Amino acid sequence: MIYSRITGTGGYLPEKVVTNHDLEKIVDTTDQWIVERTGIRKRHIAEEGEFTCDLAEKAARNALDMAGLKPDEIDLIVVATTTADQVFPSTACLLQARLGIRGPAAFDVQAVCTGFVYALGVADKFIQTGSAKKALVVGAETISRILDWNDRNTCVLFGDGAGAVVIEASNEPGIISTHLHADGAYESLLRVPSGISRGYDKLRESEAYMQMRGNEVFKVAVTTLGRIVDETLAANGMQKSDIDWLIPHQANIRIINATARKLQTPMERVVVTVEDHGNTSAASVPLALDVAVRDGRIKRGETILMEAFGGGFTWGSVLAKF
Ligand code: UT7
Repeated sequence: MIYSRITGTGGYLPEKVVTNHDLEKIVDTTDQWIVERTGIRKRHIAEEGEFTCDLAEKAARNALDMAGLKPDEIDLIVVATTTADQVFPSTACLLQARLGIRGPAAFDVQAVCTGFVYALGVADKFIQTGSAKKALVVGAETISRILDWNDRNTCVLFGDGAGAVVIEASNEPGIISTHLHADGAYESLLRVPSGISRGYDKLRESEAYMQMRGNEVFKVAVTTLGRIVDETLAANGMQKSDIDWLIPHQANIRIINATARKLQTPMERVVVTVEDHGNTSAASVPLALDVAVRDGRIKRGETILMEAFGGGFTWGSVLAKF
């Protein structure tokens, strides 16, 4: 049996920080509302001229350093992003060129906030089948670029950033299972309706930005994330108590609390970054993982459950021995 072991993690957040008090000056909101309803206090926002690939490169180099690998040892690159720098080449190919890697497959995965979980699931299959030995998997977003900064329903919730992991083929257990799901019937609850085939020339400004029916998304997210926890444990014949760390998508502290309750996990065993990062979409899970690995909370051999939910709707989990 070949497993994918996570041998390196990395993260990067843009330097510019926007607090809730900063947002009070832009839209009709309050620090109190944002903290009570979401748990978010601040978020990092990319500067003008700072793009998704810039964030991805920094996170990727951090992950490669931890893994002790040179870029040219990587034989697969998968980037999860909703906010690609260009229509093409993919952000993965742009990243590949930045890292000076030539030849191995590089492609993007688009599953919005579940993107990193999808990308890791895909890369894990490449490792398990022997198609790759050392993969770089990145979640990177400049989600601030698809926000309407006049819409208080969305602009207070998100932030920019990138997280990355290196996974390597190993006989020792690493990734134990991945579960990926989608249901496109929910498109109207969360979307950016503009797109290339719909024509730039016909674009109305409102369609360029995120539209979300937050309360309806919230309800589906809570029940769906509860189900994915059950599905993951049942598929592996595991108990709730077998999970050492829950690393959830960081959209809202109330959703995280509900998932932790479902798992009967005390909050000390849940990695929470939403307070400082906001929702960084595909970057949120790898950023949270990197924070808890680097501060020494997550140790080698511990069992981690990563899960995410997002536009599509898409949702999924990755269970792994770290
Ligand atoms: O990443 C995956 C996808 N996204 C999510 O998972 C997000 C899921 N949804 C949520 O996190 C929550 O639904 C929100 C944080 C978006 C909203 O919280 P809520 O408790 O569901 O509030 P609500 O949408 O029911 O709105 C309550 C009130 C409304 O006012 P009225 O109609 O009751 O007068 C909103 O207009 O809060 C108002 N409101 C705000 N007030 C101050 C909405 N946004 C703001 C704001 N500041 N920024």
